[in-house]
Amino acid sequence: MNNDNDRFSLQDRTVLITGGGKGIGKVYAEQFALAGARVMVADIDAPAVEATVTAIEAAGGTASGITTDIADPQSVDAMVGATKERFGSIDVLVNNASLMSSLPRRPWIEIPVDEWDRVMAVNLRGLFLCCRAVFPIMREQGRGKIVNISSSRIWDGTPNRLHYTTSKAGVVGFTRALAREVGAFGINVNAVTPGLTMSDSQIASSAASYVGESSFADRSIRRAQMPRDLVGVVMFLSSAASDFITGQTINVDGGKAMH
Ligand SMILES: NC(=O)c1ccc[n+]([C@@H]2O[C@H](COP(=O)([O-])OP(=O)(O)OC[C@H]3O[C@@H](n4cnc5c(N)ncnc54)[C@H](O)[C@@H]3O)[C@@H](O)[C@H]2O)c1
Repeated sequence: MNNDNDRFSLQDRTVLITGGGKGIGKVYAEQFALAGARVMVADIDAPAVEATVTAIEAAGGTASGITTDIADPQSVDAMVGATKERFGSIDVLVNNASLMSSLPRRPWIEIPVDEWDRVMAVNLRGLFLCCRAVFPIMREQGRGKIVNISSSRIWDGTPNRLHYTTSKAGVVGFTRALAREVGAFGINVNAVTPGLTMSDSQIASSAASYVGESSFADRSIRRAQMPRDLVGVVMFLSSAASDFITGQTINVDGGKAMH
């Protein structure tokens, strides 16, 4: 009998996490490190990068950090170069960074054009740039995992951040098309759609009523979604256990949207 349990292992895998300095990305970074992975934390917020790396190292994990703007090609190339130099490989890219909590919730007609453009630059151009930068390394390795963080807003059509919702729907189309283009190189590309999740920034940027009990009344599992609820699926999509899954979008929202 084959024992396939080691296919779930993330031991010594190099995992690059964008937006890993704060919020849900920080939880991914900490948990990957606890699972034995070597973690590169990339975030536009320099003190947050440092804090996450310090926390991981204090817990006995292996991590390095780099301040990065994923919307900027040179910054992204530097991020990927530093990861390769530090760890020698890039096995997993978690495209988690996005503009979300800093965006005011307002009617679509009031969104300034420059804010629309910045959201697309970070949430979609950033995704393209990060994938483009890791691709040669993953192709040479003959394997790689890319996990793109979308949002369950795309199932609900949640209003009041139209640019954000549009960008997160774009993440799904991007995931599907890229999966077809890189599958031949042993690279898997999948997406995750988190429901409303109680990251520090989500709580800080939302009215109490928005994140209160009414926000989960229509879930099958009626409780608040926490960052750790997302860790399992992101790790699964990063491990060899999901080697035959690509181009897919997995919804994690306590059974609100059924996709
Ligand atoms: N919290 C939720 O309710 C929720 C729901 C659905 C999807 N998501 C998605 O999950 C991910 C994490 O969410 P979160 O709640 O932790 O959000 P967050 O706003 O706390 O985290 C986003 C991170 O990305 C970083 N970032 C922003 N712009 C960047 C840039 N240009 N370059 C590099 N880093 C940049 C921020 O500094 C921050 O650390 C995001 O992609 C978000 O859209 C969150």
